[in-house]
Amino acid sequence: MSATSSRTPSFWDDAVVYQLYVRSFADSDGDGVGDLGGVIRRLDHIAGLGAGAIWLNPCYPSPQADHGYDIADYRGVNPEYGTLETFDRLVAEAHARGLRILLDLVPNHCSDRHPWFTAALAAGPGSPERARFVFRDGRGDAPPNNWQSVFGGPAWTRVTEPDGTPGQWYLHLFTREQPDFDWRNAEVLAEFDDILRFWFDRGVDGFRIDVCHGLIKDAALRDWDGGGYNAHSWNQPEVHGIFRRWRALAEGYDRDLLLVGEVWVPDPGDLDDYLRPDELHQAFSFDLLVQPWDAGALRGAVERAAARTAVHGAPAAWTLANHDVHRAVTRYGIVRPEPAPPSNDAFAALMRPRGEVDVKLGERRARAALLLVLALPGSVFLYQGEELGLPEVLDLPDEARQDPVFHRSGGREKGRDGCRVPLPWSAAAPAFGFGTGTPWLPQPDWFAAYAADVQDETSTLHLYRRAIRARHELGLGEPGEVAWLATGEDTVLAFRRGEVVCVVNTGATDFTPPAQWGAVVLHSGEPAVVAADTAAWLAPARS
Ligand code: NOJ
Ligand code: MG
Repeated sequence: MSATSSRTPSFWDDAVVYQLYVRSFADSDGDGVGDLGGVIRRLDHIAGLGAGAIWLNPCYPSPQADHGYDIADYRGVNPEYGTLETFDRLVAEAHARGLRILLDLVPNHCSDRHPWFTAALAAGPGSPERARFVFRDGRGDAPPNNWQSVFGGPAWTRVTEPDGTPGQWYLHLFTREQPDFDWRNAEVLAEFDDILRFWFDRGVDGFRIDVCHGLIKDAALRDWDGGGYNAHSWNQPEVHGIFRRWRALAEGYDRDLLLVGEVWVPDPGDLDDYLRPDELHQAFSFDLLVQPWDAGALRGAVERAAARTAVHGAPAAWTLANHDVHRAVTRYGIVRPEPAPPSNDAFAALMRPRGEVDVKLGERRARAALLLVLALPGSVFLYQGEELGLPEVLDLPDEARQDPVFHRSGGREKGRDGCRVPLPWSAAAPAFGFGTGTPWLPQPDWFAAYAADVQDETSTLHLYRRAIRARHELGLGEPGEVAWLATGEDTVLAFRRGEVVCVVNTGATDFTPPAQWGAVVLHSGEPAVVAADTAAWLAPARS
């Protein structure tokens, strides 16, 4: 018996969640920046896809040093995006369409303009204000330890004390504008309890939680050994107490509230502890996202995720793209890989692989990969623009780039702007229908071919709509077994979900499924066979 069958069903068991990067979705007021008014106007696009929930990337007041992941006020809305009233309207309009709303909770760090941090700077060493962050004396003129920022450069910045002398250092695992909280401090815990309640009380249906594995640091802040993943800054055992606390808080409400974690750990088995029945409901399966286009590799990641679900019953959270990684079309389209530049981020090479890209090939494979994830038990998180088949914008001019990853790495790493370019809605409209102003990142001319209004019956957008509808009708996302079927080919994977068989062909030649698997009900390429780089769902003919 599966561990999931005894649980009460929740919306995230099999939901399709649309990840919405507010800044780049739709601009309603002509300032070139996406906003909540734009989201409200385009809600029918998301409902029409068949999604059941939306995850909004951070839309709180923020100086935008890391596009919203540097929060100055956890209880407001960035004025560029709207007001709390706009937010309330969005929640109401979304709920009216059966769409839940998930916010992005960013607990590891705030903005250096957050009132707590400015107070900490003013209050000086040893103060309770500083104790909410990780301030330390240096080692002579050197930082307190050798930790590196994920985005390049050291993880410490030295402050000038109120009396004008060079003073203490504060820790920031990301940019210097993102000081890390000290999660051993009771005031920090209490503050976040209150933030969670603030939004739950406003009607949000859960949180995607940023950098879960980073909240607690080694108590002695020991030096990193220099080899890849820093075992002293990430994945500390004490972090789990925080998730238990939030889970208990969420359970205090009489409705379905989701906590889904962003947890990057080198061994997928390390996720198990985060998914204990009194911690997070889900954690993203990045293991699948980082696999190459290879049947064995993809199957391995699916099996490992199924093993996670078997331990504590937590449904998988599948995802093939997000706002930090190269778009799926581009990743799967790499025909001649190039070595990754050196990076402080142990996962950068996997998230943003480089090389010569065959876009048509990548598109074919990304469509097939969609049928793979939509056939799996668990929820599926779809990043905006993937439904249009957008490739990564690799040709952004350097002057236009805004990602701190680009700037802090001295341009060595191109960063994440290429998956954040404002969406093309109409091929013939100014800014492709994103809005009337000049978009905050330039859209390439070739975006016209991907605009939502020129996607015909054979397009990726229509495949998304058909596949999500069929997934619901066939119950493919519901808890249950993934039963692998022999295909006789290393390059073809096949599994059964109830009556339906999903076949994915990563090889170079056609695959003809045995007749007993049934007839094709949906395919990503051609109907007759499961051709190279395509996938299909088969089912017995209905009489
Ligand atoms: C992970 C988020 O997904 C990313 O966009 C952000 O830059 C870092 N966490 C820091 O908050
Ligand atoms: Mg705007």
